[in-house]
Amino acid sequence: MAVAYLLGHPVGHSLSPAMHNAAFAALGLPHRYEALDVPPDALPSAVSGLREPGVLGANVTVPHKEAVMPLVDSWDGVAARTRAANTISRHPHDGRVRLQAWNTDRTGFVRALRVKGIDVRARRVLVLGAGGAAQAIVPALAELGAAVTLANRTRERAERLAASIDERLRPNIAPWPGGAGLADLDVVVNATSLGLEGEDPLDAVALPPGLVVVDIVPTADETPLVRRARAAGCAVVDGLAMLLYQAALSFYIWTGVQGVAVEDAMRAALPRPA
Ligand code: ATR
Repeated sequence: MAVAYLLGHPVGHSLSPAMHNAAFAALGLPHRYEALDVPPDALPSAVSGLREPGVLGANVTVPHKEAVMPLVDSWDGVAARTRAANTISRHPHDGRVRLQAWNTDRTGFVRALRVKGIDVRARRVLVLGAGGAAQAIVPALAELGAAVTLANRTRERAERLAASIDERLRPNIAPWPGGAGLADLDVVVNATSLGLEGEDPLDAVALPPGLVVVDIVPTADETPLVRRARAAGCAVVDGLAMLLYQAALSFYIWTGVQGVAVEDAMRAALPRPA
């Protein structure tokens, strides 16, 4: 038996324990997933605790995704690029345990699009936000062949993100708020944190029914944007879908087990369909 931890502050509303514990049970694995409320000054000792026996690995969430980076021994490509991680795996070798950080945002996002049948190749995609999540997602959209436009409250951050992408795939920048010109778009992605507290990043802007709306905010209740998009007849990828596929990838990183049984168990543990 081993324990996987969620390190965050606060963690009370996280949907991750229910998803992972359901998957452990469905697969007959003797493990357990536990959320730990870790204030910032306790993060170094919480991460060194992951080197102890009996630990399977960890997820890392707000506000520790960046702070965890120097506390581990190695990083996957997306974590290194975004300087943020949401998963830690442990690798015992020669009497020592090394920790590796992963960022599963990109894969979770791409899987969510694929599962929902959304092909962004040659589509006009507006991404709202230029924070950690956008830094994982925007390169993926560009590499999938989307024509990406970025809008962020802090314009310089959008410019920095655009400049980090290969010139041939480089996004354009649009002014914030990003609602103007939705009629000329195929897909809009909310990669800001707006929606966590019931905000709507597109406020009262009408959503054309042909628009695909992707919201990455993983709230237990639908965000206002998702609710409006469904009411307008848009195709919607809800934040719970990205959460689910990220969780499935963390599970695979820790256990080596992946597949339909894992995803079905996790999906059934969510408060609404994903
Ligand atoms: P995450 O890792 O979830 O992306 P982050 O790196 O803090 O978190 O980024 C949050 C994103 O939401 C940013 O794009 C941020 O805009 P700024 O770069 O201008 O900070 C955006 N955001 C957060 N609160 C916002 C608000 N009240 N209005 C507009 N954008 C907001």
